[in-house]
Amino acid sequence: MSTAEFVVVANRLPVDRATDDIEGPDAWRRSPGGLVTALEPIMQKADGAWVGWAGQPDLDVAPFDFEGTHLVPVRLSAEDVELYYEGFSNDTIWPLYHDVISEPRYSRVWWDAYVRVNRRFAEAAAAATAEGGIVWVQDYQLQLVPKMLRELRPDVTIGYFHHIPFPAYGLYSQLPWRRQVLEGLLGADVIGFQRVADAGNFARSVRRQLRYETKASGIAVPDGDGGTRIALAKAFPISIDASSYIELAQRADVQERAREIRESLGNPKRILLGVDRLDYTKGIRHRLKAYGELLAEGRLDVEDVTLVQVASPSRERVAAYIQLRDEIELTVGRIDGDHDTMGHTAIRYLHQAYPREEMVALFLAADVMLVTALRDGMNLVAKEYVASRVDNRGVLVLSEFAGAADELGTAVRINPHDIEGLKEAIMRAVEMPPAEQGRRMRALRRRVLEHSVEDWSREFLEALAVFHTTREGVAS
Ligand code: G6P
Repeated sequence: MSTAEFVVVANRLPVDRATDDIEGPDAWRRSPGGLVTALEPIMQKADGAWVGWAGQPDLDVAPFDFEGTHLVPVRLSAEDVELYYEGFSNDTIWPLYHDVISEPRYSRVWWDAYVRVNRRFAEAAAAATAEGGIVWVQDYQLQLVPKMLRELRPDVTIGYFHHIPFPAYGLYSQLPWRRQVLEGLLGADVIGFQRVADAGNFARSVRRQLRYETKASGIAVPDGDGGTRIALAKAFPISIDASSYIELAQRADVQERAREIRESLGNPKRILLGVDRLDYTKGIRHRLKAYGELLAEGRLDVEDVTLVQVASPSRERVAAYIQLRDEIELTVGRIDGDHDTMGHTAIRYLHQAYPREEMVALFLAADVMLVTALRDGMNLVAKEYVASRVDNRGVLVLSEFAGAADELGTAVRINPHDIEGLKEAIMRAVEMPPAEQGRRMRALRRRVLEHSVEDWSREFLEALAVFHTTREGVAS
C-alpha cells in the first residue's frame, strides 16, 4: 500500500456520495465543509492522504484518489454508527463539551465502541503514513487516536485540532473516562483549540486529573522511559476561505438572486436571517422566543420584517435532535399562525441544506444575521456572513458564547439566555443607521479577511513542524 508524508484523519472523508442522477448514483463529490477547503491546498502540495468514514454504514470501499488527494475509507458498521458516532460522539461528548445544554448519557457500551473505532482509525492512519511523516487528527470523535497512533508509530509527528469547545473542569470531570480521554489527546505533539479559554480548560483538567505540570502552553507528558516530553496546547482559531465568499458575493447572478429572494418574501423592509445545523447548541429556540415576543408586542410588524431560518438536517436519529426539531417546528408554526398575513410571513423556515451560491445570496439579502449560539466552538456562519458583505452593510448579532466573539468585536454582542437583552439587540440591529452598519462591518471584514483559513492551517502546521524537525534531529 502507498504511504503519504502528510495524513489527515477525520471522522468524515472530504467527499460525499452523489445521490442525484446527473453524476450517477456511485459518483463521489467533494463535500462543501470548511475543513475540506482549508486543507485542499496543503493536501495537493504535500501529496497527502485523508483517512475517514464515507458517511454511510456498512460501505466497503477500497482506497482511491480524488482530485489530487488519496482517500482511505474507514468502514463503520451500522452498530458502530449507532454506538460510536450517534452514541458516544454525539450523545455523550457533544452535549458534555457544550456545557451540558442537553444531558450527556454515559454508557459503557458506547465507550467500548468509541475505543474500538478510534483504534481502527489509528491503525488506518498508521498504515497510510510514510516513515517520519506528519499526521493531523481532527475533532472530538477521535480523541483517543493521538495516543494510539503514537504507540503504533513513534516516528510520526502528531497534531490534533479540537473544533468544538473544551468545557470547564467542573463539567469535564463528570466524564467516567476523563483520564483516558486526556491521555488520548496528549499523544499529540500539538493540541489546537478554538479559544484561549478552551486551551486553559484543557490544561486545568490535565493538572487536576493527571497531575502533569503545565507552563505557558507547554504540558510535560511522561514519555514512558522515566523522562518527559513537551506537548503544546494552544488556541488556533479556525477561519473560512474568505476570498471564495467575496468572489461569489461580487457575481452579478448571485446579487440578482439576492434581489429575487427579497422579492419572493414580499420585499420586507428588513430581513433577519438564521443559518444553523438543527442543533440544540445553536440557540434557535431563544432566537424564536425573542422574535415572537417582539411581534406579539407590536415592536416588529410582519408587514415590515421576515425571519428566514435555515435549519439544515443533522444527526437525525439522536433523540435530543428529534425532540429539538419537534419543539422548533411547533414554535415556528405557532408564530406564523399568529402573525402571518396572506402576503407576508413572520418566519420562512427551511429544513434544508443549500449550495454555497444560494447561501451567499441569502447573506446579501439579509439585513440582520442572528447568531445566538448557547455554546459554539467557533461558528463559521458568522464569518461567512461578514465575508459576503462586500457592500459593507448588514448587522451581525453575535452570541458571546461562540468562539467567533473573541475576534469579531464590533458585532452586536448578546447573551442569548437574556431574552430581554436579545430583544433589545434585535431592535438595535433592525434600526441601525447605514453609517454605523458600515463602520462596524468594515472592522469585522478586516479581521475575517486578514485571518483566513489558510493562515489557520499554516500557523498550526508551523507549530507542528517544530516538533517534526526536533524529532528528525533526534533520529539522525
Ligand atoms: C461540527 C463538528 C464536525 C462535524 C460537523 C457536522 O462542526 O465539529 O466534526 O463534522 O459538526 O456534524 P456531523 O455529525 O454531520 O459530522
